[in-house]
Amino acid sequence: MAIPVLTIDGPSGAGKGTVSRAVAKKLGWNYLDSGSIYRSLAIAVLKQGVDLADESAIVSVAQTMALEFDCHDELVVRLDGVDITAKLGLESTGSTASIIAALPEVRRVLLQKQQDFKQLPGLVADGRDMGTVVFPDAKNKVFLTASAAERAKRRYKQLIEKGNDANLPRITTEIEERDRRDSERKNAPLAVAGGALYIDSSEMTLDAVIEEVLNLIR
Ligand code: C5P
Repeated sequence: MAIPVLTIDGPSGAGKGTVSRAVAKKLGWNYLDSGSIYRSLAIAVLKQGVDLADESAIVSVAQTMALEFDCHDELVVRLDGVDITAKLGLESTGSTASIIAALPEVRRVLLQKQQDFKQLPGLVADGRDMGTVVFPDAKNKVFLTASAAERAKRRYKQLIEKGNDANLPRITTEIEERDRRDSERKNAPLAVAGGALYIDSSEMTLDAVIEEVLNLIR
């Protein structure tokens, strides 16, 4: 039996995570937060003090790191047995993730880890290249975006709510830099997959976005 896959791609802070989790829960499907795989690798690389210019050292960390995902109500991620969930959302983790995600060999090593999430009864996969590279045959594809200013505001609110320090102008600059890096890289750049439903959530409520995505599946 074919396993249904819904891909949700878009830039950082567009609400992919919240929407994907809600849709996966509603459908009873599995959920892949592919960004958290790149983020976990970033944490491992930073922890080991690996030079970000040393591609082969980063690839070797990617090959040897042991990741466990516990996705019940909240996502819990363990790296080599240690709970790293609290570090996943940090802006520094995201920026490092976007630097190492531009390395083709890193993407190749992480491809299978992501495809392994495709299991019955179905999968909601959230990222940048879910519909273009990782699950090109997915039946349903969404591209979810919002203006950079709106995304920066949301990220700021999220960080403050979690008790982290945050600075809105800096977050805006970081988001714009990350957009540029993710869109301009040669390997699997952020792009709208053919046939994807394009949703700009800048002026939409979360519930409206979730409803639009669920309508696509129905
Ligand atoms: O989505 P999130 O902000 O968690 O992703 C962190 C970084 O990981 C992104 O900026 C991007 O560079 C990289 N990423 C990627 N491909 C994915 C998911 C994330 O390159 N499918």
